[in-house]
Amino acid sequence: MTEAPLYTALLQHQEKHMAPFHTPGHKCAPNALPTNLLRLDYTELPDTDSLFEASGAILQAEKLAASLFGAKRTLFSAGGCSLCIQAMLRLACPSGGTVLCARNAHRTAVNAMALLGLQPLWAMPNNILYVLNNSTKSINACYVTSPDYYGRLLNIPALAQACKHRHIPLLVDNAHGTQLAFTNPDLHPLHLGADMTADSAHKTLNVLTGGAWLQIGNPRYVPGAKSAMSLFASTSPSYPIMASLDLARAFLQEHPEAFTPVQQQVQHLEQAAAAHGITNVSDDPTRLSLRTSDIGLTGAQAAEIFRQNGVEPEMADGGYVVFICTPWNTAENYRRLEKTIALLPAGKPLPKLPELPELPPVRIPLRKAVFSPSRSVPLKQAVGRIAAEAACPCPPGIPVVMPGEEVTAQAVEFLSGYGFFSLRVL
Ligand SMILES: Cc1ncc(COP(=O)(O)O)c(C=O)c1O
Repeated sequence: MTEAPLYTALLQHQEKHMAPFHTPGHKCAPNALPTNLLRLDYTELPDTDSLFEASGAILQAEKLAASLFGAKRTLFSAGGCSLCIQAMLRLACPSGGTVLCARNAHRTAVNAMALLGLQPLWAMPNNILYVLNNSTKSINACYVTSPDYYGRLLNIPALAQACKHRHIPLLVDNAHGTQLAFTNPDLHPLHLGADMTADSAHKTLNVLTGGAWLQIGNPRYVPGAKSAMSLFASTSPSYPIMASLDLARAFLQEHPEAFTPVQQQVQHLEQAAAAHGITNVSDDPTRLSLRTSDIGLTGAQAAEIFRQNGVEPEMADGGYVVFICTPWNTAENYRRLEKTIALLPAGKPLPKLPELPELPPVRIPLRKAVFSPSRSVPLKQAVGRIAAEAACPCPPGIPVVMPGEEVTAQAVEFLSGYGFFSLRVL
C-alpha cells in the first residue's frame, strides 16, 4: 500500500494493546458492534430513509430511542453532541436573546452562540442557581454542562424548578452523561427536569464516534427540532453511525443493568485510590476522575505513568486524570488500572490552586468578538484589550476570559501562572 500515515498510526496504536479508558465507549471491543458496518455504509435510498425527512426506518429508530429514554422526541445526530448543542440553542432562542450560561461551557456552545447571535450571561457553575433565582436581567434560556468532564454534577432538579419559575428552558450539555439513565440512581438530566439534553452517546456507549442524541423533554420544542438539527448538519450523515445509535438503544433495552458491574468496578477503584491517598472527584458513578495533585503529581505526570503501564486515560491536566469506564472494558483493563494506581509515587500534595479572578467586564457582544479581525499578541500586551478567544486553564477548566470581554491585569497574571504566553485580541 502507498503511504497512509493516519491509518498506519491507528494500526500502530492498536498494536500496543493499551487498556482503553477513553472515548469511544465501545472501546473497539469485538462484541460491542457488528463487524459488518463497513458493508452497510449506504446512503439515502428508498429502503433506508433520510435523516432530515425521516418517515421510515430512521423515524422508527428515533421513536424507539425516545421511548427508552422517556423523551417526548429523540433525534439522531451523526455530527456529535456539538450538532445537538447547536440545535438546542437554536430551538430555545429562535429570535436571539440572552442565555444564562455556566462558565465551563464547551467551546462548541460558545461557537454556536456566536453563530446564532446569542449573548451569554456567564455565571460560575456553583453560582448559576443563585443568578437564576436573583438576576433581574431578561434571560431567554439557561444552559449548563452536567456532568462536566470530571463527572461532577450540578443540582439539575433545583435548576429546573428555578427555570420553570422564570418560564425559560433548561438546556443541559449532557455530553458525558448518556449512561446516567442506566445507573443506580438514575441521574440523567432529562429525568431530573431538563427541557432538552445533548447526549454524546459515542463517549460512553457502543456507538461509533460522532453518534449522539438530542433528547427533548418539553413538547414545545418538538415541531421545530428536525429543522434546527439540519441547520448546522452535513447532508450526508453516516449510516453506520446512525445504525450504531440504533444498536446501542437495542442493547440498553435488552441490558438495562449493563452499567451495574461498571459502577461496582469504579467503586472498587475509588477505594483503591483512596487507600493510596487520591480522591475520585466524580459524582458520575461510572467515571474515575483522580485528583493526583493529592499525592504531588500533576495529572499529566500521572497519565505518563499510566501509559507506561499500558493504561490510556481519557484526559489529564494540571491536577487530575480522568478514566471513562464502560461495559466494554475488560476485567484485565481494570486490573491494570488498579495495579498502576498502586504504583504512583506518593508525595506531598501540590499547592492549592489560586482563586480564579472575578468575571471580567463584557465590552462587546460575543458574536462581534468572534467574527471581527483579531491577532495574537504576547500576553502582557493583552491587558486592557478585548479578547477574541477564550483562555481556559485546566484545572479548573473554566475560562478566565471569553471573547468580547476585557482582558484584565488580574486575568493576565493568572494566565501567566498557568504558562499562557499569548492571546488573540481585537
Ligand atoms: C462537555 C462537552 N460538551 C460537548 C462536547 C462535544 O461533543 P462531540 O464531540 O460529541 O461533538 C464535548 C466533547 O468533548 C464535551 O466534552
